[in-house]
Amino acid sequence: MENMYDAIIVGGGVIGGAIAYSLAKRGKKVLLLEKDRLANKASGAAAGMLAAQAELDEDGPLFQLAKKSRDLFPALKKDIKELSGIDIGLINKGMLKIALTKQEEQEYKRIIAIQQRAGEQVQWLTGEEAREKEPALSNTVLGAMYIEKDGQVEAPQLTLGFLKSAAALGVVIKEHIEVQSFHYENGNVAGVITNEGDFISNNVIVAGGAWSNKLLQDSELKLEAYPVKGECFSVCTHRPLFSSTIFSHGCYLVPKQGGRIIVGATVIPKTFDQSVTVDGISLLIERAKSLVPSIGEAEWEKVWAGIRPQTADGLPYLGEHPTCKGLFVATGHFRNGILLSAITGEVVSDLVEDKPTEMDLTPFRLDRMSEILT
Ligand code: FAD
Ligand code: GLY
Repeated sequence: MENMYDAIIVGGGVIGGAIAYSLAKRGKKVLLLEKDRLANKASGAAAGMLAAQAELDEDGPLFQLAKKSRDLFPALKKDIKELSGIDIGLINKGMLKIALTKQEEQEYKRIIAIQQRAGEQVQWLTGEEAREKEPALSNTVLGAMYIEKDGQVEAPQLTLGFLKSAAALGVVIKEHIEVQSFHYENGNVAGVITNEGDFISNNVIVAGGAWSNKLLQDSELKLEAYPVKGECFSVCTHRPLFSSTIFSHGCYLVPKQGGRIIVGATVIPKTFDQSVTVDGISLLIERAKSLVPSIGEAEWEKVWAGIRPQTADGLPYLGEHPTCKGLFVATGHFRNGILLSAITGEVVSDLVEDKPTEMDLTPFRLDRMSEILT
């Protein structure tokens, strides 16, 4: 039947795109439905850092997942370019996690010791050493964690790259179609109900970002998840001011190709409002100038905001519905969905194929918090 698929994916962000790409490589007949436009929500707003060590400092299941994902990007860059012609803008110039206070210095030195014990490349640079590496850094910088392997990509390009590559491999992608609920048959999902009619499949993957809970509300599963707004701005310079990503508490500066710099991001929980405020941007400008004073001379480009999908325990949801076979969820990637997209595509495809996953996904299962809460 024409409207019957091996799998239906709900959501045209980086997570839906990565899963579509991975399932398509495995020869599956896939449909992806997006209620708005592709890459137009969190995935289009992201700064694109692959900050496995800068954002996730403690060792644990999420750190392991993030490192595995980071390692997949060089091959992904090549494959996506070949299939779609899109350059995902992978840059491997490392990251400096800046300490501005003695307390931060102590904390980062503790994290360095933990990460070095876990076998990671990371080192402490004094303020002078950090400025030797990046002369644009302010004199107030006390020191920095230097993380060589934390790179970055262009997040909108990565998202469109996954989707266009998936389409080249046969995935059917439809925009402006909203999935409203699911069809069920004997404890199995049987398809989706949309504003444009029904589509049939025994496997449905919800990758709806911060909007996933709304969709799951009649499936007897309530995710402990909530939206977190992030505002950003970008500027341009004639010559690059620095080449590593500058990451600090409450602000980061990500140098892109051609002298463009993305500065992010505010963290405003429990709102779906995507407006950008003067207060949010002023705060970021102040923080950015305290890290790199010369950014004040850069040419203004634009502002934007996106809604991150966060969970109560900070771990993403990656798993099958506890009572409905074939209904999968992949969301809650919060600040690291771009980084985690590559591995999410692979492990969720393993789940759909009922194959053992490369990593134990128990910590990410869908009913983990209902167990804790009862
Ligand atoms: P989204 O991109 O929000 O996509 C979900 C899609 O599902 C949306 O397009 C939505 O319209 C669609 N949808 C929802 N419900 C339905 C429905 N019922 N029917 C059809 N479609 C539906 N991560 C990093 O790794 N590195 C970074 O540097 C980084 N920077 C960030 C900066 C900012 C300002 C923000 C906001 C986020 C940042 N993130 C970063 C986090 C990252 O952007 C997210 O974790 C990631 O984009 C989530 O992807 P997603 O596909 O789950 O969600
Ligand atoms: N990972 C950066 C952000 O979410 O703002």
